[in-house]
Amino acid sequence: MTEKRELLYEGKAKKLYVTDEKELLWVEYLNQATALNGLKKNEIAGKGELNNQITSFIFEYLSKKGIRHHFVKKLSKTEQLIQKVKIIPLEVVLRNVAAGSFSKRLGVKEGTPFSLPIVEFYFKEDALDDPFINDEHVLALKIAKQAEIDLLKVKVRKINKVLIEMFQKAKIRLIDFKLEFGRLPDGAIILADEVSPDTCRLWDAKTNEHLDKDIYRRDLGDLVLVYQKVLERLLTI
Ligand code: TMP
Repeated sequence: MTEKRELLYEGKAKKLYVTDEKELLWVEYLNQATALNGLKKNEIAGKGELNNQITSFIFEYLSKKGIRHHFVKKLSKTEQLIQKVKIIPLEVVLRNVAAGSFSKRLGVKEGTPFSLPIVEFYFKEDALDDPFINDEHVLALKIAKQAEIDLLKVKVRKINKVLIEMFQKAKIRLIDFKLEFGRLPDGAIILADEVSPDTCRLWDAKTNEHLDKDIYRRDLGDLVLVYQKVLERLLTI
């Protein structure tokens, strides 16, 4: 049985602890919700539990489809065991449909679908507000080599196909999402962090009702009720 040791890192939505096994970390999902890079912040009872359950479900689904990731197992309602990776400081965003910052920045109406999904990179650096960067910036900043950039794009597009199909079964449209990847000691790049309504835009397949963190970002209603709905639907597929 793996033992939890000292706190390694506290993020906006999760705490990471080292364990007695050097290749494993212990994650605790928190009830904190943030938006606008932490400017808007609230405690929402039940959120940590829901994100842990949804993320665990999705990682297990991805395993069945042959996608490698850091998730090892769910330990409790709010905790997971994960493989330790060196996180690549990129937020890799994939967009199937225009929404959010894309719509705002480029004046494209929310809900406009793309024939080819768009992959974007953001430099994960809170002090700079996670700026949008392109492949050449990634190379210049020595974040990843060209072959790794190409690999990240292949991986995110493959994960997109699996997630679209998974959410379709739950009568949910996958509008866009953000992924993070990490390197294992042998250099292999695997999916890390979380995949949840905090990191995906999810719309009801029939009504286009928001089923994600936009509920909180845009003050549209009760986040917990909506995340519960996502979990319940996933558990039926
Ligand atoms: P955006 O439209 O605000 O750029 O967001 C695109 C997707 O990425 C959306 O599903 C939310 C997700 N995302 C995060 O998970 N974390 C972030 O810090 C940002 C900016 C977006």
